[in-house]
Parts: sequence; structure tokens; C-alpha cells
Amino acid sequence: MRLLSSLLIISLLFFFACSTTQQREITSIKIAFGSCANQDKPQPMLDIAASQGLDAFVFLGDNIYGDSRVMDTLKAKYRRLASKSSFQNLKAKADIYAVWDDHDYGENDSGRHYPYKKESKEIFMEFWEVPENSDRRTHDGIYGVEYLKKGDLIVQLILLDTRTFRDDLIFRRKEDTLNGHKNDYIPNQNPDSTFLGEAQWAWLETIFKAPADVRIIASSNQFSHEYNGWESWTNVPHQQKRMLELIKSTQANGVIFISGDVHWGEISKMKNEGAYPVYDVTSSGITQTWDIIEPNNNRIGNPVAQNNIGTIEILKSENAVKIEFALIDSSAQKIELHKLELSEISFDK
Ligand SMILES: [Fe+2]
Repeated sequence: MRLLSSLLIISLLFFFACSTTQQREITSIKIAFGSCANQDKPQPMLDIAASQGLDAFVFLGDNIYGDSRVMDTLKAKYRRLASKSSFQNLKAKADIYAVWDDHDYGENDSGRHYPYKKESKEIFMEFWEVPENSDRRTHDGIYGVEYLKKGDLIVQLILLDTRTFRDDLIFRRKEDTLNGHKNDYIPNQNPDSTFLGEAQWAWLETIFKAPADVRIIASSNQFSHEYNGWESWTNVPHQQKRMLELIKSTQANGVIFISGDVHWGEISKMKNEGAYPVYDVTSSGITQTWDIIEPNNNRIGNPVAQNNIGTIEILKSENAVKIEFALIDSSAQKIELHKLELSEISFDK
């Protein structure tokens, strides 16, 4: 009897030791993100985001439909967003970060020639509560980096400015359809044209060289999809190539894009010869949808036509780092899911 009791106690101790060790071994960081939110519409997607157990939520642009050169109008529209219970709920549950796209920058499809970019930036910094001592306030544009850290897991959140420095895009003419071009824009092949501007490129190089397990790049515009003639990195292809080259030259591991803008959700995967593939998880929109989803040969899984948010969860154990991408719909279901190991997006195999 005594032997049996001893064996039982030993077994129980072993079981508890194993489960505690297992719990201790896994560290996780979870972020969610979304874009394209009309301040005059209800935003239940933000309540769904708030229920996901997040460390952070990233607003990926078109966070309001500002579309005004009158700064008081822009401020009033931000106030309408702030007054929403769903926005307040999310803000109470997760750290909030933001980049902008054209409509909250101030004007549809605008870039570096938009004359109110400084004034608009001031309002952006105040609304998103960017700390007074942040570098984001001292240089031109809104780009910056944040670090999410748990245990020895380090996630870089790289917040790009795709508006302040970007050259005007080239409008498509009727005859350009002969070359397969469509919608508003054809690729700008001029090597002097820029998407990020030299200062932001130089800064990004230093960020890529800093230690991190995973680097999530918040870019309002899509990066890894196939050209479709709407605004995106594909309209300045030599700058898209420069990004791929920068990943290689800095040997930056774990680069993943998150993007918005297009009013549908999808996960894209772009080859990078001599390196690992670049994933781009697009979530759009919080309130907006679009009737025509463009073809995209780089898409994995299916596109999401209804309102959605995206999530990325990073799970680090002793032996591996696992990453899960998801797109979550308005009934809180994960309707697109993609899992990978960090080693698949790393130079260190
Ligand atoms: Fe946009």
C-alpha cells in the first residue's frame, strides 16, 4: 500500500513538473491590425479585436476618412472615432499604434506634394498619443519603431510612412491597357522616384540591423501582391526591389509585412531570390468593403470580402518559434489561417 501511494505521489509530482515546464517554455506575443474605418459608421470589428487577448493593435491607415485640407475638419473626424465605445474598448485592452494612409493623411492617393502634411502630422501625433520625446516627432514624416518584448522574445514593429516622401504615381492612359495595365496607375520606372525617401531608407537599414526575432512592417499599401493598377509598392517597382535587396544585404531575419487600404483581406507571399519569401498580411476594412477583388497570383488561401481584422501570433518555445497569421471576420471566426516556422523566413536555417 505504502509503495502504491509513493508511486502515485511520484507520478503526480512528475505530471505537475512537466506541465509547469511546458507552460514556462512557451512565450507568446499577439498583435492584431486593421484599416479603412469610416468614423461615421459603427465599428464592431474593434470589439472583436478587443476580445482577442492582444498585446497590441496596429491601425494601418485610412483610420478616418479625413479628406480635407481644413485641419479643424480633420480633428473633428478624429473626435468622432475617439467617441466610439468600440474604439475605447480596444484602447483599454491593448496598446495602440498607427500609421496613416491617404485619407487620414488628408487627400485621396496623395504623396509628398500634399501641402498640409506637416499640419496633418501634428494632429496625427496628438490623436495617437505618440510620446512627446519620440523620434517620430522630431523628423519629417511619421515613421518609427516600437519593440514588443516578453522573456527573450523580441518583436520589432516597424511603422512606415508611405505618404510624406512618396512621389506622385503615374496615371494610366487608355493605350496602356495594351501592355496589360489597368485601373488607375502604371508602374513608375524612373529610378529617381521614391516610395520612402532617402532618410527613411537609411533609418530602416539601421532598424534591420538591430536585434529582433520577428520584424513586422506596418505599411499602409500592399507590398507582396501582384500588380493590379491600384496604389501599392508595385507602382514603384524599383523601390519594392530595394526593400527585397535591403533584407538580403542586412540579413534581416523574420521580416513580415502587414498592410491595408484595398477594402478586402488576403495573405500574399512574394519570392525573394537568395533569401526567404516575404509574406504580406492585408487586412481591410474595418468598415469598408469592395465589390471587385483583384486577381493576385501571390495570394495564398482565399480573399476575404467582408469586414475583417488580421492577427499575427508568435509563439516561442525552447526549440522553435512558430508564427500564425489569421484573418478574422465580422462573426469573430478565423476564416483564413496560415502557420509557419520562423526558420522559413530566416537566413539562419
Ligand atoms: Fe488608402
